[in-house]
Amino acid sequence: MKYSVVNIARIAENLGKTVCLRGWVRNRRFGKGIAFFILRDGTGEVQCVASSEEIPEGELKSYEGIGLESSVQIIGEVRNDERSPGGYEIKVQEIIPIQKVTDYPIAKKEHGVEFLMEHRHLWIRSRTQTAILKLRNEIQKYWIDFFYEKNFYRADAPIFTSSACEGTTTLFPVDYHGDTAYLSQSGQLYNEATIFALGKVYCFGPTFRAEKSKTRRHLLEFWMLEAEASFMTHEESLQLQEELIVSTIEHVLSKCDSEFKILGRDIEPLKRVKPPFVRITYGEAVKLINEKMVERDAPFQYGDDFGAPEETFLSLQFDKPFFVTNFPVETKAFYMKPDPNDVSTLLCADLLAPEGYGEIIGGSQREDDIDALLQRIKQWNLPLEHLQWYLDLRRYGSVYHSGFGIGLERVVAWVAGLHHIRETIPFPRMLHHLFP
Ligand code: 4AD
Ligand code: MG
Repeated sequence: MKYSVVNIARIAENLGKTVCLRGWVRNRRFGKGIAFFILRDGTGEVQCVASSEEIPEGELKSYEGIGLESSVQIIGEVRNDERSPGGYEIKVQEIIPIQKVTDYPIAKKEHGVEFLMEHRHLWIRSRTQTAILKLRNEIQKYWIDFFYEKNFYRADAPIFTSSACEGTTTLFPVDYHGDTAYLSQSGQLYNEATIFALGKVYCFGPTFRAEKSKTRRHLLEFWMLEAEASFMTHEESLQLQEELIVSTIEHVLSKCDSEFKILGRDIEPLKRVKPPFVRITYGEAVKLINEKMVERDAPFQYGDDFGAPEETFLSLQFDKPFFVTNFPVETKAFYMKPDPNDVSTLLCADLLAPEGYGEIIGGSQREDDIDALLQRIKQWNLPLEHLQWYLDLRRYGSVYHSGFGIGLERVVAWVAGLHHIRETIPFPRMLHHLFP
């Protein structure tokens, strides 16, 4: 018998032909003289029908030993079938088991999150988890293309770092042959060096924060894309962020129809993601919280950082992403530049996603004056010796520049409409959660 091995995604091109599919059994069902197998192979899934018309009774019976998640080769003819989800099915000629499984631990009944997290290495095979990972892949690829088209160079930052970028409370120390290194909290300081070589840059990699609180937004290891450009004002940076978000959403809406369906994601809120995005100042956000947020005992203090409840509240006030600008100097990192129109606040912004998702981007114009920067480093009590190299960037050809960081998992959680960030990365690292 002549047949070719094909991916499920390509069966339409093989209509009427006999093909060999290779993958895993997602589901199965037996009737009198008939068996239905749902086969998946990473590219898609298809129903395969084995009937006693073609297959000897004894062999058909033996298929009962091919349980969920068995690996198999299925040889059969591609047929049109309007009732099948993809419009095609396979008329089975033979099922060849590669490994028979009869005791797959994730049964079809509902499991608790605890159980699923412990079996994350298997849970990722599920239809919804696969859809999320495909969305993630699509967003990652889109971002790389976006920055390439905009003539940004990718210049990745180190993971072992010698200094804190985002405050000393969330550092992960590691022994570095007797010295202490820290896992990177942000590649920004390194981006600020590479812009002097390349003009416009971005880095994209894992980022580590020893977050001590358990929230549905925080991972201890997450992926962040950080862009930085010389001669880019804060205003231009906001425009770039807006364009990135709007076009990312357009991209996934055009590419990920089947993933949205699997996830049951209502895409109407995503369709509203059009420019321009509203901008409110931190001061206005505080006013909103104190006037409208009912579930609080005490007023929110100007100068405090927003916690998870405030972020959720703010995020529910708008129906598309919006910027919160001009945080007070004392709330943010040492490298941000004060706003010349109000030096008690910064040329910075967080971009918050709607629907309760909260912050997805943080960015600012950077302090480019060495004296002002030195003063901030002292105020923040940061170890000057570890930042001398960074100060060189203000000594040798300093120019105004801005940048931002966008959290991949936060964006995936929002786009996919997930309650919790843990499902947005294959193997989430969270407080007290390092297994598998
Ligand atoms: O606001 P953050 O801390 O900004 C920075 O790190 C800057 N150095 C970026 C820059 O200007 N180059 O983090 C940026 C983004 C957040 O908006 C959020 O999307 C994500 O990173 N993020 C997290 N995502 C998951 N888990 C966490 N613990 C996160 N912390 C930040
Ligand atoms: Mg932030």
